[in-house]
Amino acid sequence: MSDFFQPVKLTDTVYWVGVIDWDVRDFHGYSTMRGTTYNAYLIVTDRVTLIDTVKESFVPEMMSRISRIVSPEDISCIISNHAEIDHSGGLPRVASMVKPDRILASKMGVRTLREHFNHCELNLEEVKTGDTLDLGTRTLRFMETRMLHWPDSMFTYMPEEKLLFSQDAFGMHLATAERFADLVGPTIVYREMAKYYANILLPYSDLVLKLLDHLEASKMKIDIIANDHGPVFRRDIANVIGWYRQWAEQKPTNLAIIVYDTMWGSTQKMAKVIADGIYKGGGRALIMPMGGSHRSDVATELLHAGALVVGSPTLNNNIFPTMADVLVYLKGLRPKNLIGAAFGSYGWGGEAVAHIRGYLEEMNIDVQSEKRVKYVPDDADLDECYQMGITLGYRLAENSQ
Ligand code: FEO
Repeated sequence: MSDFFQPVKLTDTVYWVGVIDWDVRDFHGYSTMRGTTYNAYLIVTDRVTLIDTVKESFVPEMMSRISRIVSPEDISCIISNHAEIDHSGGLPRVASMVKPDRILASKMGVRTLREHFNHCELNLEEVKTGDTLDLGTRTLRFMETRMLHWPDSMFTYMPEEKLLFSQDAFGMHLATAERFADLVGPTIVYREMAKYYANILLPYSDLVLKLLDHLEASKMKIDIIANDHGPVFRRDIANVIGWYRQWAEQKPTNLAIIVYDTMWGSTQKMAKVIADGIYKGGGRALIMPMGGSHRSDVATELLHAGALVVGSPTLNNNIFPTMADVLVYLKGLRPKNLIGAAFGSYGWGGEAVAHIRGYLEEMNIDVQSEKRVKYVPDDADLDECYQMGITLGYRLAENSQ
């Protein structure tokens, strides 16, 4: 038998049998410049169990890994921790090959899987928080994590190995041949995990905090986090959980993210001067021109910020399409605890700044100031931009204390 598509042994009974998607660069609007993985896990005891599957097109690769450990027909149970189709797309095909006795999911999971796969019969059974599954030498305990990040989402915990199968939570879009996070550069792991949190879990931060409190109160011991994307954590678990708490709390920092687009350079000039003012006032600024920045990278930077400052020229009585794109996207992610400002240039109508203010206010961002410039900013305009930046800088420094 050839050597490729090998499983990776995580513990005495648990194997990674997922797939690496080196090619994906867009994940429903989120840029995945480092690709991703779809993780599935095989538990080998007297009762062989598969946790999650993969995208439908990757099923042969996953089955090849499974076949190196057991005969696929030996799988008696499949657990679906999350019904989104990057994890369940392969389920009907796998079920038809394996013919498992049972497929377990949360109540909402059963409903969601039926709604996705109404063309085929699946032996779906509901489990709820606290239910257990006896696998002989191992046990699985289920915990529903509704809206983290879908209604069906749940965790599966194996106490004997102190192993948490956490589906999307604690995951990241990162394709790597390494299966453990401690074998990947820590900066990359932190960055990709933060990006995943900012773009997938941020709107549910209040629920994340409740879940973290619950995990802490239950004194659940976790030595391994086997997530559904990216490498598995087997070290520094407290740090990983600590990052989630920090991101969920969204405490403001002294950093302003300035996003803008420009037509003939006027709005760009204003952005740079506002940034200088912010530094002068005691804050920090990161300028992200939307002509070359991705919305999901803006969301990531905003995770560690205290202000969102937005600039756009007026185009046909409106804002630039690139600015509408990023603002609609950020609004959906519901960031908290931010202050903001709006700025931009115009020729005659000049509506863009008012539109930006509207977007920011809909996001519950406390808009501190705005500045409109006709055609090209003169020295007095730029001085006003500078002053606007200084005031923002003071406020950022104050809020981040
Ligand atoms: Fe990785 Fe929510 O799917």
